[in-house]
Amino acid sequence: MKNLLNSFEDYLLSNLPLSNTFHPNFQNALGDMLKAGGKRFRPMLLLSVVKSNKSLLISNSMPVALGIEFLHTYSLIHDDLPAMDNADLRRGFQTLHKKYDEVTAILVGDALNTEAFNLISNASLSNDIKIDLIKCLASNGGIDGMIIGQAIDCFFENQKLELNQLEFLHIHKTAKLIAASLKMGAIISEYDLETQEKLYSFGIDLGLLFQIQDDIIDETLTSEEAGKTTKNDNLKNSFVNLLGLEGAKKSADKLANKCKESLNSFDYKLKNSLEELLLSYINRHN
Ligand code: IPE
Ligand code: IPE
Ligand code: MG
Ligand code: MG
Ligand code: MG
Repeated sequence: MKNLLNSFEDYLLSNLPLSNTFHPNFQNALGDMLKAGGKRFRPMLLLSVVKSNKSLLISNSMPVALGIEFLHTYSLIHDDLPAMDNADLRRGFQTLHKKYDEVTAILVGDALNTEAFNLISNASLSNDIKIDLIKCLASNGGIDGMIIGQAIDCFFENQKLELNQLEFLHIHKTAKLIAASLKMGAIISEYDLETQEKLYSFGIDLGLLFQIQDDIIDETLTSEEAGKTTKNDNLKNSFVNLLGLEGAKKSADKLANKCKESLNSFDYKLKNSLEELLLSYINRHN
């Protein structure tokens, strides 16, 4: 798994977005948050699925994995803006609106969003597969996915949601992109539709677990430890605010067990490949 991550990092560094003009800092700003690091969870999910079935396609899948990371990184840059979560630190560095200005942060986000689809459309994969990938990323990262989740997250600050609304919010804001990453791996590997859907619904559980853990991180880690602004969810419909820290941990345990059960139900190649990546994530709230 380490090797797969290293290959992804190398690919990222040699394929940073380009903007060679007379703008004094846009080129640097475009690459800053990508180079800053991050866990690369979503591209690794995609690559792990490809590895399980079509390892020869790993290198052709790199632009797609990078596209997902671009879209995710854009979502973080916008998430940190003063109008949204107003955070100063991300991936161990100053956020772009702090280091440069808001205009730069907004436009770098916009650029990474569109560039994600450019990367996928230029990948060496069949056109049919690329259209399915683009559809999957657009629908899960877009209006009916991450965007509506973020809209609800910000609109309902200070207003307590019901538990089912809380789940809707977090499934859209976070879980759908994680589920899409797995499904996009399955699309590239040409897994049958049933397996694609099974991976997608596993990804929804995994994504919800990931967000509960993220809410626990906000409550329990310092900004230095997390590499991003924490203690920042006071007004949010976070799992910790609605269920309490212990309640959030219990909920995470329950979902972690469900995820382990689902992993065991996959065929052994898929299970082995995903398990290698996921065991440390599934228990990271403990
Ligand atoms: C943070 O995502 C935002 C959430 C959806 C919880 P990550 O925790 O994957 O952030 P990076 O990519 O590692 O920086
Ligand atoms: C952000 O959720 C989800 C995104 C779509 C970016 P958070 O606001 O909880 O993410 P962090 O804690 O700032 O990373
Ligand atoms: Mg947020
Ligand atoms: Mg945030
Ligand atoms: Mg958070």
